[in-house]
Amino acid sequence: MVTTTHDQMETIELAQKLAKKLVGGKVLALHGDLGGGKTTFTKGLAEALKVEEIITSPTFVMLKNYPAKLSDGKKIELVHIDAYRAETIDDIKSVGIEDFLNRDDVVMVVEWAEKISEILPKNMININFKFIDENTRAIEIEDK
Ligand SMILES: Nc1ncnc2c1ncn2[C@@H]1O[C@H](COP(=O)(O)OP(=O)(O)O)[C@@H](O)[C@H]1O
Ligand SMILES: [Mg+2]
Repeated sequence: MVTTTHDQMETIELAQKLAKKLVGGKVLALHGDLGGGKTTFTKGLAEALKVEEIITSPTFVMLKNYPAKLSDGKKIELVHIDAYRAETIDDIKSVGIEDFLNRDDVVMVVEWAEKISEILPKNMININFKFIDENTRAIEIEDK
């Protein structure tokens, strides 16, 4: 399904809507244009998942994790990855990604997921971000 958002709040609200349906163990693969709204979307997810810290882009550290809660109250960790700078799979292993894979108490969000697809599970929810103009984004959430 493609949703067009007209400002960053609408992108955040779209993420919050998706967050309500998430269960532990899900991996969200975010693809698409730089400035497309992947980090903004992740902020919306984090808010809905009751992350208390302000999340910032893990551009340089590549992986950050935050205590979070699913809509049913279950405690999880939200793992936010930005794989843009990963040149090899070892780069992303070196920041500890394997500690968080295959866990039903983790929701993982991966910007530039295509760069590390070989280490990620096959049944991800793919989300594609397209920059239309300054404030407009087309966001396609793969049906699952
Ligand atoms: N509709 C929109 N959705 C999301 N971000 C938007 C939108 N319109 C403008 N923006 C701006 O675009 C930028 C998106 O940046 P960011 O979320 O960091 O993108 P990415 O992580 O994909 O590179 C932010 O500065 C945000 O304020
Ligand atoms: Mg980003």
